[in-house]
Amino acid sequence: MTDLIIQEEKIIERILTMELVRVTERAAVAAARLRGRGDEKAADQAAVDAMRRELNRLPITGTVVIGEGERDEAPMLFIGEKVGAGGLSVDIAVDPLEGTTLCAKNMPGSIAVMAMAKSGSLLNAPDVYMDKIAIGPGYAPGVVDLDMSPEENVRALAKAKGVKPGDITVLILDRPRHAAIIEGVRKAGASVMFITDGDVAGVIFTAQQAQTGVDMYIGTGGAPEGVLAAGALRCVGGQMQGRLILDSEAKRERALKMGIKDPNKKYDMKELASGDVIVCATGVTDGALLKGVRFGKEIVETETVIYRSVTGTVRKIQAEHREMSKFKLD
Ligand code: FBP
Repeated sequence: MTDLIIQEEKIIERILTMELVRVTERAAVAAARLRGRGDEKAADQAAVDAMRRELNRLPITGTVVIGEGERDEAPMLFIGEKVGAGGLSVDIAVDPLEGTTLCAKNMPGSIAVMAMAKSGSLLNAPDVYMDKIAIGPGYAPGVVDLDMSPEENVRALAKAKGVKPGDITVLILDRPRHAAIIEGVRKAGASVMFITDGDVAGVIFTAQQAQTGVDMYIGTGGAPEGVLAAGALRCVGGQMQGRLILDSEAKRERALKMGIKDPNKKYDMKELASGDVIVCATGVTDGALLKGVRFGKEIVETETVIYRSVTGTVRKIQAEHREMSKFKLD
């Protein structure tokens, strides 16, 4: 590839960084209009439609490599769906409404989130569960590991941090399937902090320990959320591992069709999201990561964060939208 083409691609990627803000803003506003209505599906669909509309305006030839289910579940932004008006070939990971229940109940922490990177950079996988472990920046590589027990991970992290296991806080999704992890973490003397949903933010919280008090995230959540979180964490410098849960022949076959030969592979952060990854998220409801959408008479306000792994830049964008206040659905 000539220097000129590489240079041109870099410029396009920089421009796209800002363009992605519009995509998650629109999805967040569309979902936020349905906050607290108790209808998860309608809120999710509104976010999907708005996100798709904006993605199709971008100068990209995009492929959704991980997201809202597979083709038969259309009209979601399905895995394999092509988006964009034509241009740079990119992979897209989406969760148009992360925390559908949080949005439907108008509880803190729902966001609209997506990631973009050059073709071949983001894990192409079915919409299955993923085992995940994550910590923030400042530790030597390999301090914690998915193949170690929760007790071992707590002790190893405490040692690396120079504190007692009792000073470690582990964030875990509040699910019955996590009973053994919770027991192990507590047995090691550490504190468990629960979230009811939203483990993209849950992983990112490990990189904001001073504000969130979270040292480590452990548990099983969605695979798309794992890829999105890995992209953001790469930018701020933490560590993460993920392993797809391919616990049936059908799932293993679906994964194989996407090129996953080893169903037990443990992916590190860079294998989940490699290259120059841009992750963009807009708050739907208020949360520790982002403020939710505010609807005024003349103005709709949004808050967005964009992570870019190649430079490590994190931008927060507070926007006032005048035109969006005129439409019922965006
Ligand atoms: P949705 O937005 O798809 O509802 O996901 C919310 C979430 O909490 C994710 O953050 C998490 O990865 C996943 O659900 C966990 O799945 P489950 O709710 O099935 O335990």
